[in-house]
Amino acid sequence: MFDLSKIKKDFPFYKNNEDLVYLDSAATSLKTESVIDAVNEYYTEYTANIHRGDYDNSFIASKLYDETRNVVSELIGNDNPKQIIFTSGATASINTVAYCYALNNLKKGDVILLTYLEHASNILPWFNVAKKTGAVIEYIPLNDDGTFNLDNYKKCLESGKVKIVTLPYVSNVLGYINPIKDICHLAHEYKALVHVDGAQGVPHLSVNVKELDCDFLSFSSHKMLGPSGVGVLYGKYELLDKMEPLFMGGGANARFNKEGEIILKETPEKYEAGTPNIEGILGFKKACEYLIEVGMGNIYKHDQELLQYAKDRLKTLDNITIYNPNSECSIIAFNVKGIFAQDVGSYLNSLNIAVRTGNHCAKILHNVIGVNETVRASFYLYNGKEDVDALYDALKDITLEKCIGAIL
Ligand SMILES: Cc1ncc(COP(=O)(O)O)c(C=O)c1O
Repeated sequence: MFDLSKIKKDFPFYKNNEDLVYLDSAATSLKTESVIDAVNEYYTEYTANIHRGDYDNSFIASKLYDETRNVVSELIGNDNPKQIIFTSGATASINTVAYCYALNNLKKGDVILLTYLEHASNILPWFNVAKKTGAVIEYIPLNDDGTFNLDNYKKCLESGKVKIVTLPYVSNVLGYINPIKDICHLAHEYKALVHVDGAQGVPHLSVNVKELDCDFLSFSSHKMLGPSGVGVLYGKYELLDKMEPLFMGGGANARFNKEGEIILKETPEKYEAGTPNIEGILGFKKACEYLIEVGMGNIYKHDQELLQYAKDRLKTLDNITIYNPNSECSIIAFNVKGIFAQDVGSYLNSLNIAVRTGNHCAKILHNVIGVNETVRASFYLYNGKEDVDALYDALKDITLEKCIGAIL
């Protein structure tokens, strides 16, 4: 059973920020006590490098590190833990696909298919790949409200030139859930691969990579209760195995000699050169265990109820423009008429409400919603209706004068 009062107690942050209304989980999530303890325990009880020590503490840390691949696999319905690569975050995972797969497999005239929804991390690496290979970037025309249009997508694929489709599971500004299963199915009919930017989707949805049949999936630990500096790249084994890693170094090679002959370890180790973020990965293990225990289905249900409540309340305010009235996942993007988003953010901050304002790294999304800057309120499993009420109350009688007063 999902019990919010119990859930909140699992987040020590609230002990130190009793009155803070935290509505910025799309930027980063709060951490459970178990996650923080796991990081601490590594430092206080068994600090050691992994896979490099012939002593107990190294065995303990290595075992926990290796087990994390199994727990992540359980969370995303992956049946082969070798398909899980640890990175420093979704950005690093996406860059791995771009530079280790696309750069070596795309050629002049091939098409990389994206949307206007992309976060900078899922567009800048692709611009670079296009520049270096001569491939072309094309955008799938979305519906007017920013939702996905499968017919338009199919038309893009019909050229036969699309080699990779790379798009978000959930938009980090509009909260729309893209139909990834259908997207993958269609792409594969046209012999294109699909990379899913799961930074906003994996924290909120019951993900099953086998059912989705995506080729790659990138996501970040810090958006799903885990520490920062840890990410995952899931990839189909046959693809990962053929690809060359970007980084070479200790831990990723089996042998090398002075002539420069290198024998790399197998996937996934060949992608994890250098000492990884061990404590972060051990913390991430706890985060995944926590999500599994609460149940992604329960989290989704809670998210949906809260989102509906927020939509119902905010849409009664005449001074607000909501850009995603049909948001499907934990995010509301809006503006207060006549007041800059940043000024609204400062005013909310003065009332102890934390939101994000600006373009949210989605710098071409204005092509869809018509504005560059919005206020984004984003929810997660520890938020309750009282948080939405606080936001509603603040917005109900917000004025430009009050905002200026909060800044001065
Ligand atoms: C949709 C999306 N993709 C990628 C990223 C990048 O994630 P990270 O900064 O953890 O690498 C984010 C972060 O906000 C995001 O929202």
